[in-house]
Parts: sequence; structure tokens; C-alpha cells
Amino acid sequence: MTAITFTDLTAHIGAEAQGLDLSRPVADADIAALEHALADRAVVLIRGQDISPEQHIAFSRQLGSLEDHVLSNFCLPGHKEIFVVSNIIENGKHIGAFGGSKQYHSDLAYLDEPSMGSVFHCLECTEEGGETSFVSMSAAYAALPEDRKLWLQGKRAVFDYVWYYEQAHRDRPALTAEQKAKVPPIAHPVVRSHPVNGRPSLFLSEVWIRRFEGVDDAESQKVLAEILEFATGPEFTYVHKWAPGDVIIWDNRNSMHKACPFDEKGSRRRMHRTTVAGTRPFFEVVA
Ligand code: SIN
Repeated sequence: MTAITFTDLTAHIGAEAQGLDLSRPVADADIAALEHALADRAVVLIRGQDISPEQHIAFSRQLGSLEDHVLSNFCLPGHKEIFVVSNIIENGKHIGAFGGSKQYHSDLAYLDEPSMGSVFHCLECTEEGGETSFVSMSAAYAALPEDRKLWLQGKRAVFDYVWYYEQAHRDRPALTAEQKAKVPPIAHPVVRSHPVNGRPSLFLSEVWIRRFEGVDDAESQKVLAEILEFATGPEFTYVHKWAPGDVIIWDNRNSMHKACPFDEKGSRRRMHRTTVAGTRPFFEVVA
């Protein structure tokens, strides 16, 4: 029996969990309840968590093994499992990944085995802006017209991290040859089944996708933009206004997310993210 209670945040996506203290080991039954909530609601919010990097890592490990981010220069010194997302500059250097993540994506989608999910902890946030917006890709898929679903089923998209990075992140350090070698282009099914509840979801993103296999780049970008415009409608979306101590776990297998703009020069936002390893996406038609 789990001690957690869940309250839905919107009709399709998000649940707030009460009854958890992430500074201590979480009971197996509660982890199982979180895993089911993620499969059904994609995003789980846990407020009021004053946790250290060690406690953040220990809790995340209860959900699975952790990934080290390819941008090791933005990981927390001494804690390579924590990827820092921040606009803050200390000693003339950015302490975390800055300026990015403003387009919908799911984390590490460009890997052969994209990550299962992330655990995001807010340490500092801005008065205005800087929210994170989440989209339910299972609700968006379910609402698509049948002919579009049929077109998508069985299609694969080519995710190309280096191609995207080199056009989008000219303000960041160039990727090293070693970093590039870790992220070759990779094709994934654009509809994927959730391993926990079998529900199909769109597996797309506003970044990294260069084309659908068998479709040229220009036509692919046109179709991608059209589907994403539909999928990111407000009925499939939850926008979270952060407070320090909030933790959100999101499931990359049925959602996308992005950071909302804020005053990057005049305010401070500091977030810590762990990334839980996943498995290769697959699609199975449910009879
Ligand atoms: C991320 O994309 O991992 C971070 C999103 C955010 O900064 O809100």
C-alpha cells in the first residue's frame, strides 16, 4: 500500500503527489505508485523538498540508473549525475546550461536508448517567466485524426544532435570530436508504446529531428511543424510556475517539455536535473 495521494493538475497531464519526503529512502510501494502515475499522467509534482545533491541522486537512483550528460562542462562539480540548468555566471563562467531548452523536446531523445525521465529540482527561480511547459504526447496522439495516426505508425524520424547543435547553439562552446562521436544520428519510431501501460504516444520534438525516414528534409520539417502545432495546443499542456523546493519528475516516454522565457540578464534561475536511463523506443499495436 502506498501512502502517497495524487491530485490531477489538468485534464490530461500532471499530478501532484502528497506524502513524500525525498530526503529519505522512498518505500518500494511508493516508487511503484510514482511509476504508474508517470505512465498515466507524464508529470508528477512534489512540493517543499529541501534536498541535497546527494539526496536528489539517491532518490533518482530508486527510479533507475542515471545518465551522465554529454555536456559534462555543465554538470555539478563533484556530482556528475546532476546536470545544472541555469543562467547564473560565477567567476566569469556559466554554472549550467543556459539559453537553451526553449523548444519542446524530451531529454536525450537523440540517443539509441533515450532517457526514461528526469527529476528536476528548483533551487532558485524567477518572479516572472521561467516556467516549464509540459505536453502530453499520449493525449495529443489519441486526439489526432485517424489518417494522420496511420501515416505516423511505423514511421521513423532521424534525430541528429550535432546537426541541430551547430545551428542552434553558436553561443555555446563548440562540441569536441569526442562529444560528437557519442551522438551520431539515430532513427526512432515516431509513435512509441509506453512500457508500463502500453499507451501509444507521439515521439517527436521541436529540436534534433532532421527528417522522417524516406521523406526529404524540407517536406519532413513541414509535416513535423504541422503535427507539433496540433500537439502543443493548450488542452494537452501543463505549465508549471516554479517555487524553490519543487521537484518535478517527468516521463520522457509520453511527454515533451520546454523552459519558458525569462529575464536571463536580470534574474536568477538555478535548477538541478538528474536523468534516468531508458530503453529503446518501440511501437506495438494494441488489439
Ligand atoms: C530541460 O529541458 O531539461 C529543462 C527545462 C527547463 O529549464 O525548464
